[in-house]
Parts: sequence; structure tokens; C-alpha cells
Amino acid sequence: MGIRLSPHGTFNGMAVDPELDAVFVHLVRGLSELGLAYVHLVDFGGKVVPADLQADIQKNFRGRLILSGEYDATRAEADLAAGRGDLIAFGRPFIANPRLVSRLRAGLPLAQGDPSTFYTPGERGYTDYPLE
Ligand SMILES: Cc1cc2nc3c(=O)[nH]c(=O)nc-3n(C[C@H](O)[C@H](O)[C@H](O)COP(=O)(O)O)c2cc1C
Repeated sequence: MGIRLSPHGTFNGMAVDPELDAVFVHLVRGLSELGLAYVHLVDFGGKVVPADLQADIQKNFRGRLILSGEYDATRAEADLAAGRGDLIAFGRPFIANPRLVSRLRAGLPLAQGDPSTFYTPGERGYTDYPLE
């Protein structure tokens, strides 16, 4: 079991306050003691998660750290090589590229998603992207 955290998310009126970083470090310390398998950090829909908070979260959590938000293959490889996290998650690229993994492996260009279809009902913009 793991948890997804959005430390600097501002959805639905959430505010970023001066104690926020300390609160999240305290939280992951506690989660680490509980033996959670992973912490998945969300960098989306708010302010960017500061690099020093990300590093403090990594230092204080024994399980796997998953990073996400605006990744492409190059940045993902760079962050993994730099040891900033253990795994990288992709969100929007998966919507527009049903075969994202094989396309990344082969270094093929990626289709761009259509943001006007995000958070809308129906298949348009979710299951109608071409497979190739
Ligand atoms: C249409 C859409 C729906 C999403 N729904 C959720 C959700 O239900 N829960 C969640 O934690 N994140 C959700 N996200 C955020 C993504 O999981 C991801 O964190 C975000 O898109 C940033 O990663 P990316 O830059 O690779 O897309 C959603 C994103 C999009 C575009």
C-alpha cells in the first residue's frame, strides 16, 4: 500500500502556507514508520513541489518514491539517474498514447492530448486516440 500526496496542490481552494513543507515531512516520517510501500508525489494543479521539499521527503521515507508531473523520457531518465526518485509516473501522455511504454522504449514521437476533453464525460479524448 502507498499514498499519493500533492504537497503544493491548490485544487478546491487548498492553500500553500508557511508550515506546509514541515507538515509534509512530518507526515512522510510517520508513513515511513508504518512501512508504507511508496509515496507518490503529485506535481500538478498547483505550485511546483520545491526541490528541497522533494529531497526532504525522500530523506525521511524508507519506501519507494514515485515522481510525476510534466515528465518526458529524457527528464525521467535524468531524474532517475540523479537518484531523485525510484520511479516516474506519466499521466497525460498515457491518455493520448495508449501504447506509451512501447513508444517511449522505441523513442517514437508522442501524440498530444486535447485538454478541452479532460474531465469531461464520454469516450472522446479518453479512448479514441489512435493505437499507432
Ligand atoms: C483528465 C485527468 C484526470 C485526472 N484524475 C486524477 C485523479 O482522479 N486522481 C489523481 O490523483 N490525479 C489525477 N490526475 C492527475 C494525474 O494523475 C497526474 O498527476 C497529472 O496529470 C500530472 O502528470 P502528467 O504531467 O504526466 O500528466 C488527472 C489528470 C488528468 C489530466
